[in-house]
Amino acid sequence: MEEKYIALLDSGVGGLALLYELIKIMPHEKYIYLGDNKNAPYGSRTQSDLLELSVKNTEELMRYGIKALVLACNTLSATVLHKLEYYARVKTFGVYPPAESCVMRGERTLLCATPLTAGKYTGIKGLDVLSLNELAKDVERKKFELSSIDLEWHLSRGNLIPGGSVPARYDTVILGCTHYEFIKSKFYDHFRPRRIISGCALTARMVKDFCSIGNKTKKVSKNQLIFAGECAYENRLFFETVVKGSFM
Ligand code: DGL
Repeated sequence: MEEKYIALLDSGVGGLALLYELIKIMPHEKYIYLGDNKNAPYGSRTQSDLLELSVKNTEELMRYGIKALVLACNTLSATVLHKLEYYARVKTFGVYPPAESCVMRGERTLLCATPLTAGKYTGIKGLDVLSLNELAKDVERKKFELSSIDLEWHLSRGNLIPGGSVPARYDTVILGCTHYEFIKSKFYDHFRPRRIISGCALTARMVKDFCSIGNKTKKVSKNQLIFAGECAYENRLFFETVVKGSFM
């Protein structure tokens, strides 16, 4: 039977955090990753813009033969997932900030996200949402080099919903943009919450459940990865570093 790729799509390097989770639990699958950093950041674009870009990028990924599409981007997941899945006719997964469950447990919770994602999560009672306009763009540019001072700068310009100033302490801070995973420790240093979480691990488990249905036979090949589209050379290098450093 033909082996097909699990395809991941993000505006750039952020989705590598989700790819990391997938490879951890499914090392023998084949992955293809498209980081659309030519059009990044996504978080302040219009929804129709994002739909147009993701249709184009999904078509590119489908040329390689894919069995599932993972929108490794909270912004795309919150805005275009259903339309895109309908268009592509391929099983599509998204990544979502687990905000409601934290609030329901009575945790004092802050969601940090791009403006588009933030807009989808305002109005949840008890949830503070910090909309950060340019942080993903800066992470895309600087990656691990983004300093605590840079982060402070972005946080001070963030738009806190429902308003007021950021409370002294949160139980949980949710990283609602996959790019923020690169600077998780800096978020921790700033907020000192009990825990910092994101939706990446849960999405990876859901993809695994889906793949295991048709994957009863044991795979022997090592995971393979190809890049497509506009992924910049430095990002390929970054990915190889992650893969070689952590998994091989
Ligand atoms: N990494 C994406 C997300 O999770 C997109 C960030 C952006 O390009 O603005 O929202």
